[in-house]
Amino acid sequence: MWHMQVIHGPNLNLLGQREPDVYGRLTLTEVDARLRTYAAQVNFELQTFQSNHEGAIIDTVHQAAGWADGLVINPGAYTHTSYAIRDAIAGVGIPAVEVHLSNVHAREPFRHTSVIAPVCVGQIVGFGWHSYRLGLEALIGWLETHMPISTKEQATS
Ligand code: DQA
Repeated sequence: MWHMQVIHGPNLNLLGQREPDVYGRLTLTEVDARLRTYAAQVNFELQTFQSNHEGAIIDTVHQAAGWADGLVINPGAYTHTSYAIRDAIAGVGIPAVEVHLSNVHAREPFRHTSVIAPVCVGQIVGFGWHSYRLGLEALIGWLETHMPISTKEQATS
């Protein structure tokens, strides 16, 4: 069974009330519940985490290295600025997918640049909460191609 970490970055705790025309009307709790349902359907282990603090996100990336096969991250506005989160993902070497609820490429110019995407396997944007689901699906497909056995199972076999 694959082990997946989802990280939600700053201000995503406000989902549902924050600019609903841009980010949708689901709360973060509802998004996480849908992702847990998806995990149960596909049969993978899922942990989700949200923080408004760069250091806490970095700590969670580091901790994921101990148990997770893959990481799906919506870094929020840190996407555009955080070399520290980028270095954390590159440093632990966990395959990661960057996701965004909105289509950042169709928005303000500062959102067109991601300092995180170059250290990720890929990026999925613009599909609301489905961006997370699609990110998980894509990452599992990537893992099945590149790492036929869960790293955790490999480590314990
Ligand atoms: C976001 C896009 C970012 O530019 C923004 O700062 C967010 C949300 C998204 O999911 O669309 O906080 O990551």
